[in-house]
Amino acid sequence: GAVLVGMLNPFDRDGLQRLADARLTAFALEAAPRTTRAQSMDVLSSQNNIAGYKAVLLATHYYPRFMPMLMTAAGTVKPAKVLIMGVGVAGLQAIATAKRLGAVVEATDVRPSTKEQVESLGGKFIEVPMTDEEKAASDGVYAKEMSDDYKRRQAELVSKHARAADIIITTALIPGKPAPRLITADMVKTMKPGSVIVDMAAEQGGNCELTVPGEAVVRHGVTLIGYTDLASRLAKQSSTLYATNLLRLTEELC
Ligand code: NAI
Repeated sequence: GAVLVGMLNPFDRDGLQRLADARLTAFALEAAPRTTRAQSMDVLSSQNNIAGYKAVLLATHYYPRFMPMLMTAAGTVKPAKVLIMGVGVAGLQAIATAKRLGAVVEATDVRPSTKEQVESLGGKFIEVPMTDEEKAASDGVYAKEMSDDYKRRQAELVSKHARAADIIITTALIPGKPAPRLITADMVKTMKPGSVIVDMAAEQGGNCELTVPGEAVVRHGVTLIGYTDLASRLAKQSSTLYATNLLRLTEELC
């Protein structure tokens, strides 16, 4: 008869079955609808917003150069090029944070409606050519798995931009599915030495083929960060915002 509220992973059938067997009423907060009314209890937003910010700061820690453009008497420093893949809550915060630090920011997503959001934050949208059918099918709140043909077109375009990027932050997720593979080992090989990839999808299998979940490793001269605890690295605020999400749900229930 007890009620359990938390991030329970609504796609974990075995875990949910165990809760059902124990006759608990459970609320998986990740399954809250992405509607205006439920916004105040949306834990994915409150935590991914923090994680997107921290991902950029972590990248700058490992990146051995400046982010902004500098014009000094001793010469001009070029700004860093940052590529954000996946423009949900985390991706949007990563774009905003990288822009504030003075980087040149590019971003891509399978959902065409994100183009306007990227541009409103001062980023450049990398548009994978799509048929009208593909556009209509992929423009929901959440992304769906794309066709092999789309993946090939996306990889072709992304590999060009990855080669030019100094920092890549990947955030692409499809609810209930393994993370889409966007950066292959071959793409990492073509990147400049000293570049950094932060793979925010590490826990769901990673957007980059070479990510090691939970670790920062160097492969082909590129630092790959697969930390799975980004929000916890700003523990005070992630706890405070999470607690508010819980309070708002409790107010609805009681
Ligand atoms: P998510 O964490 O599920 O995914 C991150 C991003 O990856 C998404 O934008 C998705 O389109 C993208 N992606 C997936 N596969 C990809 C691929 N192969 N290549 C490139 N990008 C790929 O997303 P998140 O942050 O949970 O946001 C999901 C939706 O919820 C968004 O549409 C967002 O606007 C909406 N939302 C609505 C809220 C509200 O109205 N209350 C609050 C927060 C989010």
